[in-house]
Amino acid sequence: MTNRYFFEMLYVAASCIQTWVILVCTLIVTPFHCMASLKKATCIVQDDRADCSHLSLSSVPQDLPSNITSLDMSHNRMTAAHPDSLKQYAGLLHLNISYNSIKNLDEGLCRNLAQLQTLNMMHNQVYLLKKEDLSHCTKLTWLNMASNKLKLQGEPFSLLQSLEFLDVSNNKLQSARLGSQPQLPSLVTLDLGHNDFTTLKSEDFSFLKDSPFLQVIHLMSSVSLEKLEPGCFKPISALRILSLDGSRKSSTLIPDLCSELSQTAIGTLSLRDIGLKNLTNRTFLGLNKTNLTLLDLSGNSISKIEDGSFQWLSGLQTLNMTGNNIKHLTRGTFNGLKMLKNLQLTKALVKSQKSSLPVIDDFSFQPLSNLESLKLQNTAFANITENTFKGLMSLTELDLSWNSYLHTERKLTNKTFVSLADSPLRKLNLEGNALVAIEPGSFLCLKNLSILLLDHNFISQMFSGKEFEGLAQLKELHISNNVQAIDLTPESFVNVTNLSVLTLGKSLKAETLNHDSSPFRPLSNLTVLDLSNNNIANIRENMLEGLDNLRVLKLQHNNLVRLWKMANPGGPVLFLKHTWRLISFDMEFNGMDEIPMEAFRNLSHLRELTISNNLLNNFRHSVFDDLTSLKVLRLEKNMITSVRAEVFRSPLSNLSVLVMGKNTFDCTCESILWFVTWLNNTNTSVPGLRDQYICNTPLLYFNDSIMDFDPLSCKDTTPFQALHILTSTTVLMLILIALIYQFHGWRIVFYWNILINRTLGFSDAKVEEGKEFEFDAYVIHAEEDTRWVERLMYPLEQKTCRFCLEDRDSIIGMSQLESIVNNMRKSRKILFVVTENLLKDPWCGRFKVHHALHQVIEDSRDSVVLIFLQDVHDYKLSHSLFLRRGMLHERCILNWPPQKERIPAFYQKLLIALGMTNQLQE
Ligand SMILES: *[C@@H]1O[C@H](CO)[C@@H](O)[C@H](O)[C@H]1NC(C)=O
Ligand SMILES: *[C@@H]1O[C@H](CO)[C@@H](O)[C@H](O)[C@H]1NC(C)=O
Ligand SMILES: *[C@@H]1O[C@H](CO)[C@@H](O)[C@H](O)[C@H]1NC(C)=O
Ligand SMILES: *[C@@H]1O[C@H](CO)[C@@H](O)[C@H](O)[C@H]1NC(C)=O
Ligand SMILES: *[C@@H]1O[C@H](CO)[C@@H](O)[C@H](O)[C@H]1NC(C)=O
Ligand SMILES: *[C@@H]1O[C@H](CO)[C@@H](O)[C@H](O)[C@H]1NC(C)=O
Ligand SMILES: *[C@@H]1O[C@H](CO)[C@@H](O)[C@H](O)[C@H]1NC(C)=O
Repeated sequence: MTNRYFFEMLYVAASCIQTWVILVCTLIVTPFHCMASLKKATCIVQDDRADCSHLSLSSVPQDLPSNITSLDMSHNRMTAAHPDSLKQYAGLLHLNISYNSIKNLDEGLCRNLAQLQTLNMMHNQVYLLKKEDLSHCTKLTWLNMASNKLKLQGEPFSLLQSLEFLDVSNNKLQSARLGSQPQLPSLVTLDLGHNDFTTLKSEDFSFLKDSPFLQVIHLMSSVSLEKLEPGCFKPISALRILSLDGSRKSSTLIPDLCSELSQTAIGTLSLRDIGLKNLTNRTFLGLNKTNLTLLDLSGNSISKIEDGSFQWLSGLQTLNMTGNNIKHLTRGTFNGLKMLKNLQLTKALVKSQKSSLPVIDDFSFQPLSNLESLKLQNTAFANITENTFKGLMSLTELDLSWNSYLHTERKLTNKTFVSLADSPLRKLNLEGNALVAIEPGSFLCLKNLSILLLDHNFISQMFSGKEFEGLAQLKELHISNNVQAIDLTPESFVNVTNLSVLTLGKSLKAETLNHDSSPFRPLSNLTVLDLSNNNIANIRENMLEGLDNLRVLKLQHNNLVRLWKMANPGGPVLFLKHTWRLISFDMEFNGMDEIPMEAFRNLSHLRELTISNNLLNNFRHSVFDDLTSLKVLRLEKNMITSVRAEVFRSPLSNLSVLVMGKNTFDCTCESILWFVTWLNNTNTSVPGLRDQYICNTPLLYFNDSIMDFDPLSCKDTTPFQALHILTSTTVLMLILIALIYQFHGWRIVFYWNILINRTLGFSDAKVEEGKEFEFDAYVIHAEEDTRWVERLMYPLEQKTCRFCLEDRDSIIGMSQLESIVNNMRKSRKILFVVTENLLKDPWCGRFKVHHALHQVIEDSRDSVVLIFLQDVHDYKLSHSLFLRRGMLHERCILNWPPQKERIPAFYQKLLIALGMTNQLQE
């Protein structure tokens, strides 16, 4: 709301200086906001109305439906309203071109818009206005030309036969005379405020001579009226309402004004905020011939009222003196106001720091025998005496609220209201009177009192029952917002048995209701009982017994958590069992976490149930089932996880409003499926459904709206479960396989190849052991390691075995590659002398390695032996030689020992490695 208002203000400014707006926007709001609201994309057409306001348009759009009857072009940048641009909207009844920069009113406008009834041109720059400009506007009933720069030429309004409302305020007009001939026969309301004329001349209103319906003139004026010529209102004798509100210099003019008005039918005179300071017995003299019924003098600074000031206003019914500075009311002040019904003295007598308290003399109100309502709200005066209100024979309503000086002892006594003994008082407002006590018999005189307001005091006492003696007619007793220090007894309300409404919110001592006999027992007519905000922890099951008519019960903000617990000694306290007519029940903020099965039994009339802001989670099935009339259910901010049919189907079935947001919903099929389905199909209003109904569990839906829960996911759960198991097993299997492959892949490939080779017979694996191999081992080494091979391998050769060394044993006449292949085939083992050099060896080493592996796989021979001369990382090994240590039998992996004494052992191992069987060892 405030935002909207703010932007309204901006638009007002926009018509003046666009750049200023943008400046303010960027200063005050974020630029984004500013742009977002200044730019509405296009006109909005709804039914037969087009809204093109605030679009920075410089002309009327031509693409609107031609049958529109209302067009709003306000707050744009038009400098002219071209008749042709409106031609096609000939059916227009209402045109708003306010807040533009239009410089004149073209006569063609009304010619093209012959049906036009209302024209709003306020806040433009129209200067000259001629008769021709409006000559075709004969159907016009409402014309607003406020806030232009009007200079009238001739009789511009003389042809407006139907005009009922004309506003030419704020135009710097030099005269109230809008024409010289009688015209505007239908005019009812004329606003001339905030113009530059200071005198009303005798003939100024003669142009309204033939306007029999004229009732209202606003002469509100910033530059004020200073002079009234005799007879200035004579031409407008039908005038009923005149307002001079805010015309600050006009106070001295009032006597003259009144005598001028004596020739009119004036009924309402509003003189708000015009700087009146004194009223004398001549101020309103001129009004003695009129039938003035309402005089508004509010917002002035009247401090002195001479006796008899109002004696001329014998027909006055309403006198508003709100917000003045009156020091003294005497027996003569209200003399002559014998018809007065409403007297508003709100803030009319105030205590300033220097001055003493204003005084109301005894019998001041005696002339007001017809007064029905007296408002003395926020009014400071010293004392209510035994005669203060004497003579108010018709008074039915007395408002003394927020008057902290009133009762010097801060008590009501049996004397306080004796002056009202003859008044048929029905309503007495004593809110905010700083009262601490009510003595017995205080209201004894007020036999007709029906409503008594004692809220916002400091009453702290025990009510014995005598306090309310005499109030047999009392229907409403409000004692909320006192200081939680009132004690009740079983007799407290025995004298007010007609009570229908009793409010005791934030007033009672916490333990005062924990007694066997309830103070409410005599109140069989009670319909509303408010016991909220009292911190009550204990009440008895019979507290409401006998309250057969109770409709509304308020128990919010107490401490009744124990009451409804199963674990409560003696079982849950079912205090609602006597109130079967209950319509509304509020038990917010009580810390409740449990509702007993029988709590709401038989409450078939209950329409509104509020148990928000507790700790409720699980509800017993069918706990709400008797609430067949429920329309509003408030359960927000509890700990509710699941909303299931067993609990909620019945209470939600007829609901108009459900408020259950901010709970800890569990968005699983079991907990929420029924609720989401219900929400999707209901007409019940659920405020904040999108952002306040949030899943708390499971993780999948955490912080999502429950409306994002997919009911389809619950359809036929069995196949989905099966699918789920299937998918997860598959995934697990795949992971397992991937892992196995990762770590033992080579073995799998290896065995696979062997299997294939054996079955398909590509290999000579069946070739027996010890068959005619020419060499024991084919030695693969790097060029740089030749010396090592010669020095340390050759000696072995002489003893036991025979190596094939490529340099030495290559077959003459063959290509190098062929020779390698041949020799490998002739060797039982392939021996790698592993050093960094070997790994770095270019293509030759690679080729050999490749081939060796090929051979190994093809022949299914476990025939590779690695001799490590250096420590080589397994990663490098596999990278260059496609071998891992793990691929080989551990006997086939030999490390060249740095220590000399271990060399014999190394040889030994080497021989074993070379001599071992080539068959696979399972
Ligand atoms: C206006 O005319 C349009 C067609 O141009 C039509 O759909 C619409 O119903 C009409 N509206 C009225 C109020 O006649
Ligand atoms: C109010 O009346 C007093 C005399 O009763 C007079 O002195 C004073 O000037 C008056 N003030 C105005 C503003 O009329
Ligand atoms: C008005 O008050 C003056 C004294 O201030 C008094 O002489 C005169 O009689 C009063 N006139 C009326 C009509 O009460
Ligand atoms: C109004 O006052 C004038 C003079 O004070 C008196 O002649 C006339 O009778 C009064 N009229 C009424 C209706 O009181
Ligand atoms: C005032 O009211 C009476 C009766 O209600 C009526 O006869 C009289 O014409 C009215 N006076 C004016 C000036 O309207
Ligand atoms: C009296 O004036 C106050 C302040 O101008 C205004 O709020 C209130 O509505 C008025 N009361 C009546 C009954 O006109
Ligand atoms: C208030 O009234 C009491 C008795 O009615 C009186 O003693 C006291 O002086 C009065 N106070 C004022 C400020 O008039």
